[in-house]
Amino acid sequence: MVNEKVHQLLNDQINKELYSAYLYLDFSNYFKAAGLDGFANWYYIQAQEERDHAMLFYTYLQNENMPVTLEAIAKPDKVLDSHMTVLKAGLEHEIYVTSLINDIYAAAYYARDFRTMQFLDWFVKEQGEEETNANDLITKMELFGSDAKGLYMLNQELAARVYSAPSLVL
Ligand code: FEO
Repeated sequence: MVNEKVHQLLNDQINKELYSAYLYLDFSNYFKAAGLDGFANWYYIQAQEERDHAMLFYTYLQNENMPVTLEAIAKPDKVLDSHMTVLKAGLEHEIYVTSLINDIYAAAYYARDFRTMQFLDWFVKEQGEEETNANDLITKMELFGSDAKGLYMLNQELAARVYSAPSLVL
């Protein structure tokens, strides 16, 4: 039996992950318009991953016989006025999502909801990877992005990213 506060936070997270997908689609759209298809691909796949995250929370709640309530997804609200702004907004967003996962984990811990803690373990690890990836992108952009040839190569590298389903299966 999931505690009511934990239930509410898990339900809210469906919306937060779908918002993340929406935000990354906006990033992808920004880079597509800028002619950087590799960056657009990277964020398109990122959006797919976020949708997967939402579905994991959705399925977990259903498996636990907890009602799912779907709310409106907010409009992406980041101002995207340069390549680096987008990359930094991505890192900032992932740090925020990590704080949300930590809040759910803390509520589950307090409620002695060990099953939810076990479910969230995957997300704790995933957020570490998400922050590392966002940080790495910023570092690469700082190193190579100001040079046209470097930007071209970086764009090529990001074009090679392929979607893979999450390792967590419910
Ligand atoms: Fe679902 Fe990027 O965190």
